[in-house]
Amino acid sequence: MKKKKIVVLTGAGVSAESGLSTFRDSNGLWENYNVYEIATPDGWYNNPSLVLEFYNQRRRQLKNVEPNAAHYALAKLQEKYDVTIVTQNVDNLHERAGSKNIIHLHGELTKARSTENYHFVIDIGYDDIHIGDLCDKGHQLRPHIVWFGESVPKIYEASKVASVADIIIVVGTSLVVYPAAGLIEYVPENSYKYIIDPVKPAVYNAHRNLEFILEKATVGTPPLVEKLLKESHTDE
Ligand code: APR
Repeated sequence: MKKKKIVVLTGAGVSAESGLSTFRDSNGLWENYNVYEIATPDGWYNNPSLVLEFYNQRRRQLKNVEPNAAHYALAKLQEKYDVTIVTQNVDNLHERAGSKNIIHLHGELTKARSTENYHFVIDIGYDDIHIGDLCDKGHQLRPHIVWFGESVPKIYEASKVASVADIIIVVGTSLVVYPAAGLIEYVPENSYKYIIDPVKPAVYNAHRNLEFILEKATVGTPPLVEKLLKESHTDE
């Protein structure tokens, strides 16, 4: 029997209660680091060691944190729905909570890629990347992260998924970085839209069937998931 389709768009807020910093909240990453120096191709060109150290620190931290109740609730949706997690996060907490279908729009901390061949991607787990770590053709390895100014190749796959979703759940994103933030516009107008965030993000308010759940992810997500699991019924 066909399951209804849910697309979930997550941002840094879904991992905040696991202890990972968001970007634009007070004391967020972009308050403590110069984004131009560590998350742009120019920054990499000017000082690759600084960029590597920034991501090495975040990768080491990731090893010591756990998924939270929001990640686990979203994974539970898979019991009765066809779920795709589209995340802007580069952490692996959705995977570790049991979600299977995950699209990482902005890359993954636990992977490295060649500076010369973006198809050369390897798993590095929580290990550091150092100057001198090279790909098979002898080029420097870099974090497998989408920096500002770089393309977001997975947005095509993500927008296709969104365009046939019966439900979208947006958790913990300020919806200010495109193209990720535009994903909600691909969802069919009559589909149900839930936005979980203690602060109302910038979104077109006149969407039909739009509900704001102004709570933290671990408070707002589990009850919504329980409601959807109770309501769930296969397509007639
Ligand atoms: N639960 C739910 N939402 C939360 C929580 C929480 N506990 N704490 C904060 N938030 C919300 C904030 O209100 C905000 O709307 O999470 C959002 C975090 O927004 P940002 O810090 O802008 O993070 P994000 O939207 O993921 O940034 C998008 O910008 O810098 C780039 O590539 C980076 O993927 C990132 C992208």
